[in-house]
Formats: sequence, C-alpha cells, structure tokens
Amino acid sequence: MTEKEKTQSDPKDLMEKLVSLCKRRGFVFPGSEIYGGLANSWDYGPLGVELKNNIKKLWWKKFVQERGDMVGLDAALVMNPKVWEASGHVATFNDPLVEDKKTHERFRLDHLLEAAGENVSGLGFEAMAAKAKEINLKSPKGNELTDAKQFNMMLETYLGPVKDEENKVYFRPETAQAIFVDFQNSLETSRQRIPFGIAQIGKAFRNEITPGNFIFRTREFEQMEIEYFVKPTEWEKYFEEWLENMKSWMRDIGISEDKLHFVEIAEADRAHYSKRTIDVEFDYPFGQKELYGLAYRGDFDLKSHQDKSRQDLEYRDPETNEKYLPHVIEPSFGVDRTILAVLISAYTEIEGGRSTTTEAIKEAEVVLRLDKKIAPIKIAILPLSKKEELSVPAKQLADKLRKRWMIMYDESQSIGKRYRRQDEIGTPYCITIDFDSLEDKKVTVRDRDTMLQERIAIDDLENYFKEKLDY
Ligand code: GAP
Repeated sequence: MTEKEKTQSDPKDLMEKLVSLCKRRGFVFPGSEIYGGLANSWDYGPLGVELKNNIKKLWWKKFVQERGDMVGLDAALVMNPKVWEASGHVATFNDPLVEDKKTHERFRLDHLLEAAGENVSGLGFEAMAAKAKEINLKSPKGNELTDAKQFNMMLETYLGPVKDEENKVYFRPETAQAIFVDFQNSLETSRQRIPFGIAQIGKAFRNEITPGNFIFRTREFEQMEIEYFVKPTEWEKYFEEWLENMKSWMRDIGISEDKLHFVEIAEADRAHYSKRTIDVEFDYPFGQKELYGLAYRGDFDLKSHQDKSRQDLEYRDPETNEKYLPHVIEPSFGVDRTILAVLISAYTEIEGGRSTTTEAIKEAEVVLRLDKKIAPIKIAILPLSKKEELSVPAKQLADKLRKRWMIMYDESQSIGKRYRRQDEIGTPYCITIDFDSLEDKKVTVRDRDTMLQERIAIDDLENYFKEKLDY
C-alpha cells in the first residue's frame, strides 16, 4: 500500500459508500425499486451478476472440478415437507421473537439483549426470556415488549391449486438437506467411495425477523454448501482439512486475512445437529459477524432421514463389507456474504487521486482491488479518440477479446475519467488505442494496481492476457 492509499477507516461511512457504489455502478440494486422496493430484497445488476458468477464458478472449480472426491448436485428448491420434519427444522429452526407493544415492530430477542449489553452466549430460549424480564428489557423506542415466543423461520407456501395444510410446503432454509436426501442416488451413480463429498450451490430462504445490513442478512440468499462423508473415526482429520480448505478459498478470492476470526462455538450455542462448529467471522463495518460456518454434523441427518423414510442410507465398504452411516463435515459458504466481504476487502480510497494524466484529480479516488479471477470486467478497451480511425479497430479488438473474457468498451470522456471508472469497478486491465497504434500495431496496456503501462503488439494480446487472466 502506498502512502496516499488507505482503506476506509470510518465503518459507517464505508457501508454507505459501498451501497452507493453498488447501486451507481450496477453491482446491486434495491429489489422491485420502481414499486417502492420490497424490504431487504436486492437484485444483482450487470456487474454484480458477473462478480457473483465468477465467485460461484471459481468455488465449483476448486471444490468439485479439481478434486476427484467431489460430485455436484442441483436439487429442487421445494422438497417434501417430511424432509424438514426429519431434519429438525420444523421443530427447532426458531428465533426468539418479541414485539413492541405500541408500534408492533418485531425484533429478535437475542439482538435486543446484546444491544442492551447482555451476553447471550449459551443462553437458550427460556433463559433469554427470563433475562429480558429480569432487566425489564424495552424496545429500541423505549416501549414495553410482549413475552418472547419462538418464531419458525421457514418460509411457507402451498403447492397446487388447493391452499390447505396438506399442500403446505417450505422453501428450503438450507441447500444441505437435499444432499442428504440424494445421498444414495449420488453415491450409486457416481461410484464414489468414502471419503467423498457432494456440493451444491443454490438459493435458500429464511423468514428472518430482522434482515438488514445490505446483503448481509436477507430473506432470500444463496449458499454454496458441501457435505463431506467420512468414516466416523476419521472426522477430526477431515474437519481440520476442511478448515484449511476454507482458509485457502478465502485467500484465493482476496478476503482480507486480518479481518477474519475463527470462533469455536460452545455446545450450548451450536445448531441442533452439530457436534463441533467453527464460525468464520469477518469484521464488517457493522461489527464482527458470521461469514461462513464449518460444522461436524455426525450422522444426525442421514440417521434421521433413514428412520423417517425407512430407506437404507448406509454405506457398504467395498473392501471390508462393513456397513455404516457415514459422518459428515459441512463447510457452508454464503454467496452474498462472500460478495460483501470481497467488496469490503477490495475497497480502497486514494487521497488526492492517482495522477494518470496531466489532469489534476483532486478528490479521493476509489480503486476496487478485486482479485483478477473474480473481477466482473477483465479488460476495458479505451480508444483515445472517438474518431472512426480509432473506434473501428478498437471495437474490432473488443469483439475479438470478448470471445474469452468480459470486456467493456468505453470511448466517452477523458482517458483519466475512463481509467477512474474502471478502477472503481475493479477492472484489472485497460487497453488504450492511440494514433500510433495504427502505425506500429501496438496498444498500451495499463495495470490497475501498479499503474504500469506496457506497449504490447495487438497480435500478442491474447497470449499476454491468457498468462495474466486464465487460471
Ligand atoms: N447448512 C448449514 C447452514 O445453513 P447457517 O450458518 O445457518 O448453516 C450458512 O448458514 C451460511 O449461509 C452462513 O454462514 C451465511 O454465509 C449464509 N446465510 C445464512 N443466513 C443468511 C441470511 N439470512 N442472509 C444471507 N446469508 C445467510
């Protein structure tokens, strides 16, 4: 980092700036905006969808394609409701809810207790409810609260034309359960042997009481999950291995290591299925909060589905003929929180700007130092003049490079402003075509981070970028 460069120090400011940049440059828009929006729903715009797809593709490559012991799955969003009875979600996927008696606003009791300075770690529902009474907890507006009740977070709907209890189904609150339900089918068809894993990327839905903090907590979000099936005696080894894999993933995508915390979750705070959990927490501008989770689920899920479905979900070891229910290590990654963490890690302001031209740029300049692998646009093509002499070959070059990489063509305003626009969205390379290019058949390639400029022959560009951008 150079002297002038700084990452944002005022956290509140940073969130505002990020949300504004995301809207202004087409990363993330408020959902249903023309109808006044829908609370806490967000849409990924032209750049956001590229960033998101790059993250998902990279994750799939690392954890499925490049490993011989992983296979994929893309299951239905809505499953037989018996799945959620067996998984424990119908009975226990609850958050403690309280209501402001005057305004009828609803809150999560654990959040209100924390805001009041209470430590809720290890407190179950009854203990939290008692604590609220003991300290005479009030709503944020200072009003009386109702007694706490358990609120189930699964989002319900009805399948088919009849809206009755029999047709009630749930949108999945996690992608994981389909992996357990499809365990035997996946095992038989892929002919994998223990240890092996199944990965899935997809939407999940939770009727969160208090969504918020931009894309951090929403009711509709995306997960990338792995259930890794192991011999019961070997779970510890694989738990450690997956912790390392998660760390390596976060390095791959440029999440700031100094903002990460690995928190061992106490038994009383773990989900009902978990025998060990490490939460990966990140320093967001609004506090240290969960980014990912790594859980040892034992045989909780397979056993429960086996009992409820009466199907044999055991694994037979082809060498020893031993039959057993595999145990499970689950690394779980939220896509939206990944995006938030990489944006926060990449956001850099440079006071006084970086003088890329003679033009003086006074105000702070933003550079999004996204890892090249996930940057939405890989190369921007910027002819120095709008004249056909330059714009025609520049557009031809853009069309050629587009076959391999996401390209943005931009000919409007000064070259300094165009560089700044690309820096702000994290484009790693800019190509300028000038009048000399017509003579020497070379262009100038500028590196976002070093700002070094190189003259490269047009015919060599593909090889040049293959080396820089392909992974
Ligand atoms: N299958 C395990 C499971 O679902 P979780 O900790 O409840 O565990 C996993 O969720 C990840 O999903 C979290 O670490 C987070 O990244 C993401 N996530 C959970 N709830 C979310 C929400 N309401 N909005 C955005 N992401 C969420």
